[in-house]
Amino acid sequence: MIKITPLHPVFAAEMTGVDLRTPPDADLVRQIDDAMNQYAILAIREQLFDDHQQVAFAKAMGPLERTRGVIDGHKHRLQYDEMIDISNLDTDDSIMRADDRRRMFNLGNHLWHSDSSFKPTPAKYSMLHARVIPPEGGETEFADMRAAWDALPEATQALVENLVCDHSLIYSRAMLGFDAFTPEERTAFEPVPQRLVRRHAGSGRRSLYLSAHIGTIHGWQRPEAMALIRELTEHATQRQFVYRHIWQPHDLVIWDNRCTMHRARPFDDRRYKRDMRRMTLEDVGPTLAQPA
Ligand code: OGA
Ligand code: MN
Repeated sequence: MIKITPLHPVFAAEMTGVDLRTPPDADLVRQIDDAMNQYAILAIREQLFDDHQQVAFAKAMGPLERTRGVIDGHKHRLQYDEMIDISNLDTDDSIMRADDRRRMFNLGNHLWHSDSSFKPTPAKYSMLHARVIPPEGGETEFADMRAAWDALPEATQALVENLVCDHSLIYSRAMLGFDAFTPEERTAFEPVPQRLVRRHAGSGRRSLYLSAHIGTIHGWQRPEAMALIRELTEHATQRQFVYRHIWQPHDLVIWDNRCTMHRARPFDDRRYKRDMRRMTLEDVGPTLAQPA
């Protein structure tokens, strides 16, 4: 029997009683979507996926993202191109070298972000599956952007509701001082515009659309823009809006990037392996093409 139990006062729930190794039928897809629309984060433990089963599950949930926002020049470690490698592992499954460019780039996941907000059509759901977990650290934190919007003073809501931001991987990496992009990567990661406030299609609620990928607000001076984005991010990531997921092997966590942010927490990545694999659904179009 399927059961849904809240994990946090404002969002996030655990679903039990499903085995997703068999792709879900339309009825189960609807139950997952309904739970997602309400809770935005769904943890489903003990899913003994292999890559093939994880891909099949993701395809049943909706259209997949077709490009990976990663820096390349190395062979992809995983057998499926559509699967994002969230690990500290090199192509041969050994721990990455300390000075590896990919390791530096991946540290960007420690900043609060929404997946693929730097793509013209950003991500809808991310579905991350834990294969190998370090003995301590390496949690993932999630923040509820609908609750954060609701809690803003009216004057701030009025100030921000029609703003448009530019997002790029180059901006988020610059925050940590990473700028080792090739000319091709600079072209691929050209900034894209996104609304700062969006209406969540699944619930009709409004949501802040924040991300570390934001580098400016249209029509604003950059320092003024970034000071506001920082204020909003601090507001939106206060503890009352945050759920921390402590991973166990075989956990599947699905989050809605349209109305949440997330960040990775540190662990001893020189010593322990952490192997997580992500499938990502694409949203219906650019946020500016969606109703506000
Ligand atoms: C991701 C991500 C955070 C983590 O998979 O998109 O940001 O804790 N992961 O690995
Ligand atoms: Mn992410």
